[in-house]
Amino acid sequence: MKEASQKVAKWSRKDVTGVVLVYVLNVIVMTAIYILFEYFSRGKNFDALIKYLAQPQTLLTFFVLSSLSSLFMLVFFLMTDKDFLREPINSEMLFLIIELCLVICILCCEYVNYYLCPFAVAGLLTLFLTNTKNALFINMIFGYIWIVFFTFLGMNDRFNGLADQTVLYYIMNIVAGTVAILVMDGVYSRVKVVIRSLFVSLPCLVVVAFSLFAYAESDVVPSVVAALVSGPLSIICFTILLPVFEGIFKKVSCFKYAELTDHKAKFIKKMIEQAPGTFNHAVIVANIAENCATAIGEDSMLARTCAYYHDVGKLRRPEFFKENQAGLEDPHEGLTPELSSNIIRSHAQDGYDLLIKNRFPKQIADACAQHHGTLPIYFFYDKAKKFTDGEVSIEQFCYTGPKPQSKIAAILMIADSSEAATRTLADRSREKVSEVVRNIVNERMKLGQFDECEITLKEITLIINAVINSLTGVYHRRVEYPKVTLDGLYKDVVKED
Ligand SMILES: [Fe+2]
Ligand SMILES: [Fe+2]
Repeated sequence: MKEASQKVAKWSRKDVTGVVLVYVLNVIVMTAIYILFEYFSRGKNFDALIKYLAQPQTLLTFFVLSSLSSLFMLVFFLMTDKDFLREPINSEMLFLIIELCLVICILCCEYVNYYLCPFAVAGLLTLFLTNTKNALFINMIFGYIWIVFFTFLGMNDRFNGLADQTVLYYIMNIVAGTVAILVMDGVYSRVKVVIRSLFVSLPCLVVVAFSLFAYAESDVVPSVVAALVSGPLSIICFTILLPVFEGIFKKVSCFKYAELTDHKAKFIKKMIEQAPGTFNHAVIVANIAENCATAIGEDSMLARTCAYYHDVGKLRRPEFFKENQAGLEDPHEGLTPELSSNIIRSHAQDGYDLLIKNRFPKQIADACAQHHGTLPIYFFYDKAKKFTDGEVSIEQFCYTGPKPQSKIAAILMIADSSEAATRTLADRSREKVSEVVRNIVNERMKLGQFDECEITLKEITLIINAVINSLTGVYHRRVEYPKVTLDGLYKDVVKED
């Protein structure tokens, strides 16, 4: 387990080079987009484009202004989330979102109507692929970049001749994106997304109304229709682009988590049918893991999904696991402890292989492989010792690892063992559950199971409390139902002598 002071790993030269390259590349791509649209706006006249770009101040000013957006992003992530910044693929994803949304908005503005532009898409994609804080920031940056393009491409001159409304448009972009982020945050149902999309149209409608009043705008009907459609259009673009970004950048949105934890999902259905004991265990572990992740500020949906699939490897031989043996003969009878141990410990690797083969997100497969770390399988180790008068190598009876590499995997390890250990307790009082959970965590710390993940003692304490609260909720005491004689109620029942 790493101490808090070691929590942020040092940046290597490779990390710095990667980030600088991504930010420089973004400025080049944005300049290329600008030159491309200048070329189209000049009737594809290459000579006219060269003549225009030959004025050094034009291209230089654009270059400086667009570079500023990259600089703002760099400073923002340096101050708020260095770990996010260190992975160049994260910045690449955000830049691609901004650039793609820029192109969509330029096309809408040039060829249809300004008010139709789906300004909320950049913020929404960032929200569902990262978090609210990043989404609000990217929305602001997108608004800024959009106004730079809007001005440099001369769209303010062409669009209704309302050049003095640029500031108004900027405010409209920012407000539309912010409203979209706030109303969509925490929405996991696609129906709700569609209904709430109408809220995204509101800022555009307000600006249209203001323009009619203050500037006596002439194209009333097209502007109102475009403003009304802009919200749903943002949602349509977002719905189409989200799976594309999920696929390219291997990110998982809440919609994907909801799909994966649906009881009709392929492997969940298989667990319900073929390994019902394992499935019920996974559901309880999922609730515990979700509470733990919330307690330490980790992704609770990811924790929940990992928990649902952590024992999916048991599907290979469900009958060899205690929770699925109700009323059946134990197939371990007659097997050597070594063979039994091999079967039991292979479920972590089997689960990982199954999830990778079926293109599950890597974080979920990794958590599955790591949920037992390198812990010993005590039951069969003990059995083997009895057979051989104590001459047994413990390594043969240990899971092969790796140890938890992330906080989510550590949470899963604690939640999994705590649920399994307390399930068999006769006394499920808070005191007893608390004692068992603390012993489990202490033992795993002594065995160095949290040495390879960046979890702190403070977080471990929060996780312990969350596990105890969740488990005492599961095993809460119920009022004992009194035995009542219902004489006369069941008139048709034949009484036995
Ligand atoms: Fe397991
Ligand atoms: Fe488990």
